[in-house]
Amino acid sequence: MIAIAVSGGAFAPYDVVVGRGLMAEAGRRIAALVPQRRTVIVTDETVARLHAPALQASLRAAGIHSAVVAVPAGEASKSFAELERVLDRMLETGLDRRDVVIALGGGVVGDLAGLAAALFMRGIDFVQIPTTLLAQVDSSVGGKTAIDTPRGKNLVGAFHQPRLVLADIDVMATLPERQLRSGWAEVLKHGLICDAPFFDWLAGEGTAGANGDPAALQRAVVRSVEIKSAIVGEDEKEAGKRALLNLGHTFGHAIEAELGFEEAVLAHGEAVALGCAMAFRYSARQGLCDMGKVERVEAAITAAGLPTRLAQAGVFSADALLARMAGDKKAEGGALTLILARGVGQAFVAKGVDAGEVRTFLVEEGASA
Ligand code: GLY
Repeated sequence: MIAIAVSGGAFAPYDVVVGRGLMAEAGRRIAALVPQRRTVIVTDETVARLHAPALQASLRAAGIHSAVVAVPAGEASKSFAELERVLDRMLETGLDRRDVVIALGGGVVGDLAGLAAALFMRGIDFVQIPTTLLAQVDSSVGGKTAIDTPRGKNLVGAFHQPRLVLADIDVMATLPERQLRSGWAEVLKHGLICDAPFFDWLAGEGTAGANGDPAALQRAVVRSVEIKSAIVGEDEKEAGKRALLNLGHTFGHAIEAELGFEEAVLAHGEAVALGCAMAFRYSARQGLCDMGKVERVEAAITAAGLPTRLAQAGVFSADALLARMAGDKKAEGGALTLILARGVGQAFVAKGVDAGEVRTFLVEEGASA
């Protein structure tokens, strides 16, 4: 069991506890945060079946009563309608400002429950119990909460840090293989941003984590959380350094958007992996890093069963991708902000990237001109 302290910002410090068997210990670990001995667990219908009984038993053993509200699994639950339903369940259960909410699930549940906690009675505490690798290494840490609107993803939200995060490595045993590999992309991303020795380990024996090996997974989660929490501690509101966490996301998000955010077609982590490969190839094209480093990055992504080439995701138009990258504004002749790299572990925020150069690169990558 390893506890990583997240601190440094204007927010109250909190621990991310990473280890095995944490679901069974959740009640004991949460007890100090719930003086009124009651809570609401926000989850989705799939995770509710898999993990809610164990969590409720653990809470019960610690003398804590819990009600469960389960939203449908999937991104569509990051909606005003589900937010209202969650808030209404919290009111119906009689929670007040001294109570806490528990987010039990992946990124969708964490974002929705976190926003509900931020809004309920002007803000109450919440605990994250992430049940996907992606949520353990990324979305459960750092306090970004949001829902989507028809105009785009994550457009309505708040920075609201959790009081505690419990990342139980054992829940990974129930994750579909594709989801595990998708989360691995965010793990690789952390090494690529600022930790070359970690990346070397991930690309070597650490690859076992992408295949579900619990010891490798624990090491990968711990180091990822250390990296993310250090960045968030310096720049909670993404005024500068936190943008590094978007490595692979500008290309990846444009590709996902063109595919209609269909997880079945391209999972988020798959888009991030592809986006990281593209960011490194673009960096090499601009003479920022050498091709040998790009090949190492591509090999590690491929070894984890993740895509590195645009053609693996579908057929795209360069102009359509560019428009997405520029936030649907006219980008031709304009400038973009990208996360680029001078090598493995040496990512940086590049402002004023020429949109015309990016368009040429997208055509070279196989997008139609
Ligand atoms: N997922 C990127 C961030 O939390 O800033």
